Amino acid sequence: MTHEYTAPGELGDPSVEAVEVPEPGAVTIVVPTFNESANVRQLLHQITESVPSRLPCEVVFVDDSSDDTPQVIKEAAQDCPFPVTVIHRDEPVGGLGGAVVEGMKAAGSDWIVVMDGDCQHPPSLVPELVATGERANAGLVVASRYIKGGSRAGLAGSYRVAVSRLATWLTKSLFPRRLHGISDPMSGFFAIRRSDITAEALKPLGYKILLELAVRSRPRRVTEVPFVFQERFAGESKSTAAEGRRFLRHLAGLRTADPLSRMVVFGLIGLTGFVPNLAALWAMTQAGLHYLPAEIVANQFGVAWNFLLIEKLLFRDRRQHRHWADRTIRFALLANADLVLRIPLIALLVGQFGLAVLPATALALVITFVLRFVGTEALVYLPRRRSGRRHGSRTARRAA
Ligand code: GDD
Ligand code: MN
Repeated sequence: MTHEYTAPGELGDPSVEAVEVPEPGAVTIVVPTFNESANVRQLLHQITESVPSRLPCEVVFVDDSSDDTPQVIKEAAQDCPFPVTVIHRDEPVGGLGGAVVEGMKAAGSDWIVVMDGDCQHPPSLVPELVATGERANAGLVVASRYIKGGSRAGLAGSYRVAVSRLATWLTKSLFPRRLHGISDPMSGFFAIRRSDITAEALKPLGYKILLELAVRSRPRRVTEVPFVFQERFAGESKSTAAEGRRFLRHLAGLRTADPLSRMVVFGLIGLTGFVPNLAALWAMTQAGLHYLPAEIVANQFGVAWNFLLIEKLLFRDRRQHRHWADRTIRFALLANADLVLRIPLIALLVGQFGLAVLPATALALVITFVLRFVGTEALVYLPRRRSGRRHGSRTARRAA
């Protein structure tokens, strides 16, 4: 990243590289910005008005702009009675979420508040978010639009409202336990304790950084404070349809982070494979092919379909270490081995263990399914393990 800039404020010089000593009762406000030059001056003004008199603060902007946002911040920072830092990234890795994690790593205080740079989030709420967290001994305080006293007044248009509602519902249904007590997992406005963040476990992808933190870092206790989502001060939302697709990928990645969920999704995808399989079988037997060779060819349609879905949805982030042709061959071999194995296995269960045909077939299906899942993970997608980096996340983060 290029120019890191810190304006001298009253808290001293929280240089990004320095080993931070957490300041008790202070807050670092992390603001991601992407071409917000018309908003940042107003934001700093609002922060100046409402935060430092109630809570010592510093502001860290993490900027991916192509306009002059960093310059505008530097100028406006001269009038601020608190330190202002701009971290400009040359490569916007992880988008909005990646920027927020970058800012959290540079934070000097134990409490971090994340808020947007377009004045849709009222800075006057910052001290209250932190105070609520201290009072409730919480690790995370979410500013919510969906509890009593909150509203999404500034959400532009009924289309955005509908999409937002659908996304919230989908997300809450996928993570009923982890998001228990969070009515607004899509919120971009929240306070979190540094000590509750496992920065190296995070894989931020686009807009939904709160979701990432709540699911992967699992803060000790979560509370909410209502807030009114304001109109944008200037400019337009940077959210696009591509951001929507990135959100769905983010959800899929979070939901399949543990092996058991991966197995369930693997099985569900396998079930959908019946459709192309049967369709191909029908087409080929209609065309006069004998059903036995047709079965074998039709099975390959199911395999190809499963392969595509599994590559796109399940193992998207775990396939770089093998060439696609290598993966295709391995996957196809495993999928067909499953079919070849099943018949002798059924014969064994019936002949040697005296099972009836139906339970023997059901059991064989389950066994070959689990074997196929484990085989696919181990032989196609999981990279060789790097040694000893599983535990000690907290200390690793401090050292980083
Ligand atoms: N550094 C960086 N990099 N900042 C970004 C990027 C990026 O790639 N993309 C957007 N931002 C910044 C914007 O400049 C702004 O300060 C903030 O992130 C939010 O972006 P908006 O484009 O204004 O988002 P929004 O208003 O549509 O969405 C907000 O509200 C949603 C709830 O409806 C965000 O807070 C979402 O996270 C939230 O879900
Ligand atoms: Mn916005």
